[in-house]
Amino acid sequence: MERGRLAAYVREVDRARFLLGVTITRRALGRRFSLLAASVSLDRTCTECGKPHGKVRAEGVELSVTHSGDLVGVAFGERPVGLDVEKVDAGVDVDGVARVALSADDVRALAEYDGIAKARAFTAYWTRREAVLKATGEGLRGELRGPVPAGIQVQELDVGADHRAALAVVSAEPPVVRIEDATQLLS
Ligand SMILES: CC(C)(COP(=O)(O)OP(=O)(O)OC[C@H]1O[C@@H](n2cnc3c(N)ncnc32)[C@H](O)[C@@H]1OP(=O)(O)O)[C@@H](O)C(=O)NCCC(=O)NCCS
Ligand SMILES: [Zn+2]
Repeated sequence: MERGRLAAYVREVDRARFLLGVTITRRALGRRFSLLAASVSLDRTCTECGKPHGKVRAEGVELSVTHSGDLVGVAFGERPVGLDVEKVDAGVDVDGVARVALSADDVRALAEYDGIAKARAFTAYWTRREAVLKATGEGLRGELRGPVPAGIQVQELDVGADHRAALAVVSAEPPVVRIEDATQLLS
């Protein structure tokens, strides 16, 4: 059930994004497993505390859900996946946040950029890190500033100028990635 999770989202916009993620997940898995969307069983039990705010899981497939700004994304895979999208915030204090959230290499690379290009580059690095932590299931409890652990493949996805997105897969081999617009699934 989604009700416990829905109740935790306070802002209407967050509730709408959450419900869109749920609908995409249910319809895509319904199609894949020949089930009614409503019959797809999803589990978001947090492995830390048991509340329904953990990584969403379903039988027979690996999943990752993300929402930010105007975008909602769901990744499906055979291996554990982590998908993260973030809207680029032109006003972000890149130098301040990068120092605590990114590696020294990332911080150095960001010094090459200015203005909106810097905000975009920061967001790209940040989504790569979050995607990795979402693939392993650690989330922001995990190590943010270290190198990408061996056995995790991470790549940036092109989602236009206003957002940055990254996909991580727990796999020794680079994954084959297919991107599908969910519009048809939602119509
Ligand atoms: C997961 C996390 C990185 C997502 O951050 P975000 O960029 O704000 O949000 P996104 O929209 O990209 O992702 C949200 C989705 O992440 C998933 N998620 C939650 N916890 C997760 C975890 N530990 N690992 C992977 N995915 C997780 C959920 O499916 C959630 O979607 P939903 O609310 O629609 O079910 C961050 O919220 C986090 O680290 N949470 C866990 C922190 C923690 O462990 N707390 C302990 C609580 S007891
Ligand atoms: Zn918890």
